[in-house]
Amino acid sequence: MIRLEHVSKAYEGGVNAVNDVSFEVPRGEIAILVGPSGCGKTTTLKMINRLHEPASGKIFVDDVDTSTVDPIELRRNIGYVIQDVGLFPHMTIAENIAVVPHLKKWDRKRIAERVDELLTMMGMPPAEYRNRYPRELSGGQRQRIGVARAMASDPPILLMDEPFGALDPITRERLQNEFLKIQEKLKKTIVFVTHDIDEAIKLGDKVAIMRKGRLIQYDAPSAVLNEPADEFVADFVGQDRTLKSLRLIRTYEVMDADPPALHIQASAAEALSLLSSSSGQKYAWVVGDARELKGLIARKDVLEADASGDAKIADIVNTNVVSVERDTTVKDALSEMLSYGLARVPVVGPEGRLEGVLTFDSIRKVLARIDS
Ligand SMILES: Nc1ncnc2c1ncn2[C@@H]1O[C@H](COP(=O)(O)OP(=O)(O)OP(=O)(O)O)[C@@H](O)[C@H]1O
Ligand SMILES: [Mg+2]
Repeated sequence: MIRLEHVSKAYEGGVNAVNDVSFEVPRGEIAILVGPSGCGKTTTLKMINRLHEPASGKIFVDDVDTSTVDPIELRRNIGYVIQDVGLFPHMTIAENIAVVPHLKKWDRKRIAERVDELLTMMGMPPAEYRNRYPRELSGGQRQRIGVARAMASDPPILLMDEPFGALDPITRERLQNEFLKIQEKLKKTIVFVTHDIDEAIKLGDKVAIMRKGRLIQYDAPSAVLNEPADEFVADFVGQDRTLKSLRLIRTYEVMDADPPALHIQASAAEALSLLSSSSGQKYAWVVGDARELKGLIARKDVLEADASGDAKIADIVNTNVVSVERDTTVKDALSEMLSYGLARVPVVGPEGRLEGVLTFDSIRKVLARIDS
């Protein structure tokens, strides 16, 4: 748990960088600090691990007043992802990740294992990446390493300063989704800085909207969207609130579960009985033994291929199918559907198992509900 009580900080020259800010982040939750450049986000973050000292007010971590704790000791339990990543260019990826474990004097074997574990978690095969240098990575990969480094010694608290800044939208989207998945397992207490309100709404359990050093609103994402505290927040959140609300909903919440499915080894006759004109079904998803999604077949394709009467689904299945994951936001799924021109996409869970189908119709119903 992290709690700020009436925290202020002025830099020399009299800038009131942070002005009477109070909020609390319960254990295992993510609070997002969001606001325009210069509003005091980084300063707030740095006071939590005492890289800056507050001029007044108090900060508690697990009910302990941090001003009574040795700053070095405090930072051992707080991972920090620096704005602009800040990897050490002359150190390999493995060495970069291992900085804190090294300071904590872990033995070499334990450090090596932890580095490999984190690289794997970040989707970067250790054998391929551990001995590279930061300049040999893409921007998105460097950001992943920044996050891995902060998590290296498994601290219960993470402070993340624009960890996904300066990335193209697609990479950013992917890192956000990976981040949410990892957090679901690890349940860290996180303060996360961004200037992107969409990112804040997607990732936050709570969103803290700052402006000129002040905290204007601290609320759940839905409250920020639906009951903005003032004009500034309303403006900042933007006009398309209905569409933004789609970021709060995951596809598994609105998909049609148990869509028609055929085993990949099925015969054309079985396919046709499922897709008989009386059933009204024009298509079916094709799955393997563990219900993992293999592709899609349409009734007309089966009819065409089955002229000789012994066609196999495996030979006519269309395997080139765009799917979305069960915890993708409906907004992301919708933008996927729009960019591929699809009226429906299959929804897959762990190991690519088919769990449902998301249709324009179900999205339309959700939009109608939000609007009313
Ligand atoms: N070391 C410093 N000395 C003097 N003023 C500073 C210092 N660091 C920050 N400031 C000022 O304090 C204010 C808040 O800065 P801060 O870095 O916290 O903003 P931010 O919200 O993180 O902005 P950004 O989105 O650009 O990173 C700004 O007006 C900034 O110019
Ligand atoms: Mg900043």
